[in-house]
Amino acid sequence: MNRTWTAGLAIGLALGASAMTGAAPKAAAPPPAARYLDRSDGADWPGYGRTFGEQHYSPLAQIDRNSASRLGLVSTYDLDQINSATQPIAVDGIVYFGAGFSIVHAVDARTGKLLWRYDPKAAKKSGPGLRIGWGSRGITSWNGKIYTGTHDGRLIALDAKTGKELWSAQTFDPQNPWYISGAPRIFDGKVVVGFGSDIGKIRGYVTAYDAETGKQAWRFYTVPGNPAVDTDETTRLAAASWAGEWWKYGGGGAVWNAMSYDPDLGLLYLGTGNGWPWNRKLRSAGQGDNLFLSSIVAVDAKTGAYRWHYQVDPGDSWDYNSAMDIELADLTIGGVHRKVLMTAPKNGHLYVIDRQTGQFVSAKPYEKVSWGSVDPVTGAPKRHPDAFFENGKSFELWPSSAGAHSWPPMSFSPATNLVYIPAIHMGFVVSDPPDLFSLNPEAGYIAGATVAVGIAPGHVPAGSLVAWDPVAQKQVWRVEYPTPANGGVMATAGGLVFQGTVDGKFRGYDAATGKLVWSFDTGTPILAPPISYSVGGRQYVSILTGLGTTMAAWGPMIEKYGVDPATQKRRLLTFALGGKAKLPTTKATPRPFPADPDFRPDSAQANRGMGVYLSHCVLCHGAAVISATHAPDLRRSPVPLSADAFTAVVRDGVLKDNGMAGFGDLSPAQLEDIRHYIRTAAHDARAPEGKGK
Ligand code: HEC
Repeated sequence: MNRTWTAGLAIGLALGASAMTGAAPKAAAPPPAARYLDRSDGADWPGYGRTFGEQHYSPLAQIDRNSASRLGLVSTYDLDQINSATQPIAVDGIVYFGAGFSIVHAVDARTGKLLWRYDPKAAKKSGPGLRIGWGSRGITSWNGKIYTGTHDGRLIALDAKTGKELWSAQTFDPQNPWYISGAPRIFDGKVVVGFGSDIGKIRGYVTAYDAETGKQAWRFYTVPGNPAVDTDETTRLAAASWAGEWWKYGGGGAVWNAMSYDPDLGLLYLGTGNGWPWNRKLRSAGQGDNLFLSSIVAVDAKTGAYRWHYQVDPGDSWDYNSAMDIELADLTIGGVHRKVLMTAPKNGHLYVIDRQTGQFVSAKPYEKVSWGSVDPVTGAPKRHPDAFFENGKSFELWPSSAGAHSWPPMSFSPATNLVYIPAIHMGFVVSDPPDLFSLNPEAGYIAGATVAVGIAPGHVPAGSLVAWDPVAQKQVWRVEYPTPANGGVMATAGGLVFQGTVDGKFRGYDAATGKLVWSFDTGTPILAPPISYSVGGRQYVSILTGLGTTMAAWGPMIEKYGVDPATQKRRLLTFALGGKAKLPTTKATPRPFPADPDFRPDSAQANRGMGVYLSHCVLCHGAAVISATHAPDLRRSPVPLSADAFTAVVRDGVLKDNGMAGFGDLSPAQLEDIRHYIRTAAHDARAPEGKGK
């Protein structure tokens, strides 16, 4: 576990210093890029995927198959924010993370002691973007600084020692219905960030800033603007693959999650989002590949100039974004040494792409797929004839629009040469909604409203952890889970694969066989990926428990795991060999359903209310009013019992600073309909069939 570069530097400095002053030798910090190299020693986990190549892999091996039985809890830190589905980083023994609306914490993981905390007050400063609640999924570090994006579009640099704000750059106008949820990435003295949206007009771009000063270095658009007025590189290159007046909708292509960097090639790889709106009939007159939607795009890291692209899902109409982690590795394929990137986008295939040229290498499905297949030579999709649900037909789409893999990252282990994918088994039935062509392109609405979706009949959504050989393109082992979405994955040089799951278990598997070698009951569902690092020669593993907005609509599927958002414990947990700390009692204790004796359900009004609830509330408060993630379960809330209190919260936004936006566009009748729907759901939950009250 020697830091070779540090050792050399430290000896040099120490000799000089002692010669002059006789002072004790002092270790110097390594140059910032050294911590990010794939060959670094793994003492730090400085950025989201640990290294520039984003393998989510730790080269530490103190905790291994044999010693894992002695792995125990060392410290806990209890959070008081919602949205803890975020990955920490670790630098020089300090763990940093941004929970809730990017509230950055610095914690001494060995003791669980908070060193500082910085609150950017992002909910307060957010505009319409607050109508979607995705929290921050990660932060990054460089040269004594911590960088976080915020919901209202700021990129902020903090002093890692004190948490003091050093600079802040506004990356988009907060009056746009957008948010930053992904981790900023860092390379060569620049920090780069994208953003997302699911609720309004969006044209994706990423912006790079000088890491020291916050001055903008370059911006790259992922979809073309209006060719009559826009002159940027993407508009010139890509407008011909679009039709109609897509710029009125924005087009989509947001880089909301994945980026990685190759320091030798000087390329930055962007994983781009789905089309906005989802439905190509509306977005692009039903035609065209729509570059660079759902693609991997390589840009020159110095200038942001386009280099190459590979489009995963041309003409996307299913929310099939290609924004899942992009992991770099060198593999020997067919006897040839190749520099590749690997990604498992929503469409259910594991792709291997030559990262120098963008040339397709291979792709095979690791989950059930109904939309078609990938041509093994060209890499072009061969689609099922009904995949675009033409002429009023519906189509059973596998994977669903939630994807066979979402943002919780997979991991690549250079020790086993396998990727470990947190996979989702779920299908949708998709079709056009009846009012598709009456939707106003300028108006804000949920992009998904442009495709009618429902869960495919005859299956129970589930999940799995898949160990996959990217060279042979075949499965090596698979562990099945009863829940559809589970946590991000980390492999280690100790031959282990770590993953948390929605049932609250944090597990370690044998990376070669999938055999369970260690398990810890955290009492709280987990979605975040874990990290590993070392301090004073001891290897640590840290993870945050508690859910974020992801899976918000899935309350009915995961309610049984005790995921009550109001009372679940959200924590930073740290483990090491010989750890003996005890976890305080952790089970969530949901609030009782409030009594509502005079309420008489009216199914017509409840149905009207459900319609508005589905377009305005479901993403945070859950399907069927069963909330599982970060916003309270409204069936258990006293607020809907009072029309005045309900109006104050839902229309006037009195809880905005806590993440509950005001919906000033709702009419008094709509508010009453939603309130009626919520009280009906509480009534049904309180008095299940046959049991009375
Ligand atoms: C972006 C996520 C999000 C959306 C969308 C959202 N809410 Fe909320 N809501 C929250 C959060 C977070 C809270 C908790 C605020 C707090 O802690 O004070 C909340 C709180 C509430 C409360 C108060 C509950 C209590 O017991 O304190 C009500 C009522 C409510 N929301 C209703 C709605 C309705 C109705 C809609 C749709 C019109 C909606 N919300 C849409 C996130 C959301």
